[in-house]
Amino acid sequence: MATTTSSASYSSKGALARAFVAVLTLTTAILGATGARPLVRNLRTQKEFTRLLNYHRDVTGLGVIIDYYSDGCGPCRQIAPHYKNLAKQYRDKVVFAKVDVNGNRETSSQQRIRSMPTFQFYQNGKKQHQFSGGDLQQLQAWASRLASDFKANNVKITREALESFYKEHAPDKATEENLDKVMKKAGGEEGGKGHRNLAKALKKKYGVAPETTLRYDPDAPQSADDPKQGAKQQQQQTTPPPASSTSSRRAKDEPLKPNLHLASMDALEAELEKRKAELEAQMEENGSEDEDEEDDGEDTPTFNMYTPDPDGLAERVVIIGAGPAGLSAAVYAARAGLRPVVVGPPNDGQLCGKGVLVENYPGLAIDITGPAVVYEMQKQAARYGAVFSDEMVSGVELSATTGQPHVLRLNSSSISTHTVVVATGAASKWLGLESEEKFKGGGVSACATCDGYLYRDQEVVVVGGGDTAMEEALHLATMCSKVTIVHRRDTFSKASLILAQRVMEHPKIEVLWNTTIVDFIGHTETPEEADKDPHMNAQGADTTEDIELLTAVKLRKTDSGEEMTLPVSGAFVAIGHTPNTWPFRGQLTMNDQGYLEVPGPSTRTSVQGVFAAGDVADAVYRQAITSAGTGAMAALDAERWLLEHGIKDERQALEEEMLREIMEETQREREAKLGVDPTEACEESA
Ligand SMILES: Cc1cc2nc3c(=O)[nH]c(=O)nc-3n(C[C@H](O)[C@H](O)[C@H](O)COP(=O)(O)OP(=O)(O)OC[C@H]3O[C@@H](n4cnc5c(N)ncnc54)[C@H](O)[C@@H]3O)c2cc1C
Ligand SMILES: *[C@@H]1O[C@H](CO)[C@@H](O)[C@H](O)[C@H]1NC(C)=O
Ligand SMILES: *[C@@H]1O[C@H](CO)[C@@H](O)[C@H](O)[C@H]1NC(C)=O
Ligand SMILES: *[C@@H]1O[C@H](CO)[C@@H](O)[C@H](O)[C@H]1NC(C)=O
Repeated sequence: MATTTSSASYSSKGALARAFVAVLTLTTAILGATGARPLVRNLRTQKEFTRLLNYHRDVTGLGVIIDYYSDGCGPCRQIAPHYKNLAKQYRDKVVFAKVDVNGNRETSSQQRIRSMPTFQFYQNGKKQHQFSGGDLQQLQAWASRLASDFKANNVKITREALESFYKEHAPDKATEENLDKVMKKAGGEEGGKGHRNLAKALKKKYGVAPETTLRYDPDAPQSADDPKQGAKQQQQQTTPPPASSTSSRRAKDEPLKPNLHLASMDALEAELEKRKAELEAQMEENGSEDEDEEDDGEDTPTFNMYTPDPDGLAERVVIIGAGPAGLSAAVYAARAGLRPVVVGPPNDGQLCGKGVLVENYPGLAIDITGPAVVYEMQKQAARYGAVFSDEMVSGVELSATTGQPHVLRLNSSSISTHTVVVATGAASKWLGLESEEKFKGGGVSACATCDGYLYRDQEVVVVGGGDTAMEEALHLATMCSKVTIVHRRDTFSKASLILAQRVMEHPKIEVLWNTTIVDFIGHTETPEEADKDPHMNAQGADTTEDIELLTAVKLRKTDSGEEMTLPVSGAFVAIGHTPNTWPFRGQLTMNDQGYLEVPGPSTRTSVQGVFAAGDVADAVYRQAITSAGTGAMAALDAERWLLEHGIKDERQALEEEMLREIMEETQREREAKLGVDPTEACEESA
């Protein structure tokens, strides 16, 4: 005669409600993701660039930010979604634009962009600032600055207002001639800073200010915010888009599986269906008012983002690193129903620095570049339910006890998990010269495929003697006038034969054996110099920053000690890689070079429940395909480990338990309504 206790029903109802909310939020997000108008304008030609800046100088007074990027550039892809979010946040306050340096060479060379990404900030057609690199904080600070500048100067005094002001306060000045003069002095009739000052001056003189209006009113019916969007503009609504969550994603190919695959949750599913239908009906009604979806060049979709479990339950699998190893592990773990969390900056792995084609990945003999391969991998993992966090792991507390989760520290939070797949890859090594730091972004680079194009028809140097150096040199030789390889030994013993041969036979490549770089030399271009430069100043470039430009490298022969100077405009460092294992120091066993030790044939590390895959544990093969292979192995190892230790989905178990209780409760209530006292009935039958 067991009667179920309902002691846990209070808290479990709360949790169930949260589950409902989570699922509904997801639905809303999916349905709400009806594209928006382009938040980021793509400037395809120099004409568009000039027109945009002139338009906002002459008409709206809005600040303009321009992002110079290229497809082959990992950091560019990484910052792109943040840039877009910022554009959303500052809609109608700042104009966001981008220039694909490969597509619009005229603008990028005229602006002398030397590394990607580079951001420029304009107000009233004048450049206020420029920086290179994916510095989100600086970007945010400048967006906010441009927005408040705009707000302060968003003032207009119409000629009529000025005329009636004078008629009232100084009738003798209300002449056409004087009005012309005053308007001209205030910078024309369009409004802006001159009008703001005029209003201030009049107020000071007469004690009252003239009537002012907004120079640019985003809510006004034909407040076109792009000169060239005229035709499309008419279809645009002034209403903001539906507030969709940051994790919005496409509706079509995304099943709701991860949150709803609980077989016993019919009730939940029915409710969800109902809400979905309601939302869809609403959308249909609103249909005609849908924002015009414009093609803004390429799509930067966002993936399902990780949110911490509200009850602090541990995850089953967390994968650190979103390169080929991590994403392959994610595909396998997701398909095993483990709902893996992938932690790491997206589009940041080594393959993302490969702008040339990946030719050795079986099945991918279609023209596809490194970043595109990684992107496809991420989409595939997402499709099966992997979720993503784009933070870095800064430290870990690994647990030696089964059942007690490992803790991974992120920037602002932490994640606990029963198993971990470490797939943090490796990073380029630098020479470590002081001048190297100085010229990074001004001629010194570790990624030919990212920055090589900027040295078109110029002379460059590549340092190193392995496959990476060979590839970089060959890539650069397709566009630069001359490539010199500087290698400290006198053979390419570390490079693969075919690549070394191609290098040796290439007419544009020269090799300096037994040689090292001992210094980078250049000069500092001050803002004044840049200003005098006719190429630099199409828009009156008012830069405040010094620019360091590489002009030569100083070389030394390793055998004779002889020194020489080689004039170059670009230097590419390709001297190998260091595994990204610093967050695991002291906790996982690694070799002298810092690679994680995995006693094969498995991906197990020195700590239970922690597995390693890809370049982080492989100093020998270091390929996308081998990384993907060990990634799959690590996911299978993690899955088996969870099975062996009887660790299940804690959230699912909790929800099932709660649902059972709620259903039992409803059943009792229904019986009570029907006049049957279940306890009585029980006792009678007893
Ligand atoms: C220029 C170049 C060209 C190449 N070309 C080819 C090729 O044609 N074919 C081929 O097979 N291989 C190629 N490779 C090698 C290939 O890119 C690597 O073998 C492969 O990317 C390794 O995959 P991975 O997942 O182990 O590591 P990675 O691709 O390096 O990815 C590691 C990921 O972990 C992240 N990460 C690092 N630290 C942390 C942390 N603390 N927290 C969170 N995340 C972190 C990184 O951001 C990165 O996204 C090339 C490499 C380079 C550099
Ligand atoms: C539809 O329009 C109404 C009123 O304009 C609004 O409240 C509602 O949020 C819109 N729904 C969707 C899904 O866009
Ligand atoms: C992470 O923390 C560092 C300081 O510890 C900070 O500089 C950085 O901006 C943080 N990044 C994010 C994404 O919060
Ligand atoms: C490089 O230096 C080694 C000795 O350090 C010497 O044996 C070799 O001949 C040199 N090679 C060239 C090409 O100068």
